[in-house]
Amino acid sequence: MDTKLCRLKDFFASRCVLITGGTGFIGMALIEGLLTSSPDLRRIYVVVREKKGLKPVERISKLLSNEIFDHLSSEIKAKVVPILGDLTAENFGLEPTILAEIRETVTVVYHSAGLIKFNRSLQETILMNVLSTLRCIELAKSLAKLSAFIYTSSITANTNIQGKISEKVYKTKRSPKEMIMLALESPSTLDKVPEIKSDMIEGHVNSYTYSKQLAENLILEELSGFTAGIVRPALVYGFYEHRIPGWMGRSMTGQCGQIKGHIKGAVRSMYGDPNSIYYCIPCDHVINCMMALAAFLGTQEIPPKLPVVAHLCNNKTINPITMQDIVNILNEESWKNPCDTYILLPRIKIRNGLRKTIHFALCYIIALAIYIPEKLLKMAPGNMKCVSNI
Ligand SMILES: NC(=O)c1ccc[n+]([C@@H]2O[C@H](COP(=O)([O-])OP(=O)(O)OC[C@H]3O[C@@H](n4cnc5c(N)ncnc54)[C@H](OP(=O)(O)O)[C@@H]3O)[C@@H](O)[C@H]2O)c1
Ligand SMILES: *[C@@H]1O[C@H](CO)[C@@H](O)[C@H](O)[C@H]1NC(C)=O
Ligand SMILES: *[C@@H]1O[C@H](CO)[C@@H](O)[C@H](O)[C@H]1NC(C)=O
Repeated sequence: MDTKLCRLKDFFASRCVLITGGTGFIGMALIEGLLTSSPDLRRIYVVVREKKGLKPVERISKLLSNEIFDHLSSEIKAKVVPILGDLTAENFGLEPTILAEIRETVTVVYHSAGLIKFNRSLQETILMNVLSTLRCIELAKSLAKLSAFIYTSSITANTNIQGKISEKVYKTKRSPKEMIMLALESPSTLDKVPEIKSDMIEGHVNSYTYSKQLAENLILEELSGFTAGIVRPALVYGFYEHRIPGWMGRSMTGQCGQIKGHIKGAVRSMYGDPNSIYYCIPCDHVINCMMALAAFLGTQEIPPKLPVVAHLCNNKTINPITMQDIVNILNEESWKNPCDTYILLPRIKIRNGLRKTIHFALCYIIALAIYIPEKLLKMAPGNMKCVSNI
């Protein structure tokens, strides 16, 4: 393949980008990454739904008021354009004028929206994670010019496969479109009988990992020969060590500030084997890869035959991160950069057996002592209110 170097800044200059999942953890960091590395970028359309009575414009302005955007001017922040959309509807149910504008101007599409719950029904998970991917692909194919389509999959997408997993798409037995049709059937039969369900999910640990594999299959079927990329991050941590010094501890313990309001610092225990390896990846590495992959794909003279897949994960041999390491980092960083919502500073220890049980029981008591005044009696001071609804 062509290895010609290209600067991110130049690649994104005067481009329009479309993002789904922009209000999520990764999507928000992607918006920040794009604006920071490519200030000449023209526009970022973010497909947003209404939530908790907030309109897309209100949600995006709340998002942009997060401290990770503080270093950007309001002129640059104004490049983020919220658009109301339903990810499972054809063309996301976009207004015709906006749709026409997008088809004319957008050349890079990031599909990062997803339902990341491991206990949801097969039907709900397929509709949100696979049907939305189909809608996004259809929209991408209708663009006047598509330079790159990047899908945020997961390192867990192929948990039904034994042994080494390569950077390629593994075929599912049933086609993703067939599964979408079944999920659209109403009332759905997918989740009715446990045997049918377990046969359907083809040896996966849950409906989430299966839906990610199905979505990858959809990209293989629909976008082979186009410039499509799939990233498979491991567990993503809110490190911002490279771009925003000093912000790491806060984001790591507060997941990009989004759930910061919930963080009270009462954590005292984690359980598990301190020597077990954590497969994880700092957030800015994920974002850097997502931007570089788009630039790589968008500058190929001949599109690759198959989607390009990238694993984003620590290498166990050269960089083993253990549970004990994670606990140490959490403790150190949260002391260095405490959240303003802390009641206690976290001081986590790994505990197992009876000590774990006792500590967890104690934790519930502490949590209740905070939750009752805050939620039910509304007695919390201002900085303790839950602020999760961006
Ligand atoms: N975080 C990780 O460690 C990790 C690791 C590997 C892969 N991934 C993948 O990365 C992607 C993004 O993850 P994340 O951590 O950013 O997730 P997140 O913080 O939970 O954000 C999910 C995003 O998807 C949107 N979404 C979910 N359900 C929706 C629905 N029914 N309709 C419209 N929008 C909906 C959310 O919009 P609202 O704000 O409107 O709810 C939000 O923007 C996912 O595809 C996930 O599978 C994440
Ligand atoms: C999934 O788990 C969450 C948290 O444990 C719980 O609140 C929710 O009710 C569960 N949902 C289903 C459909 O089982
Ligand atoms: C991890 O690093 C080792 C040592 O450099 C290397 O041999 C191995 O191929 C790497 N693993 C992967 C999956 O890249």
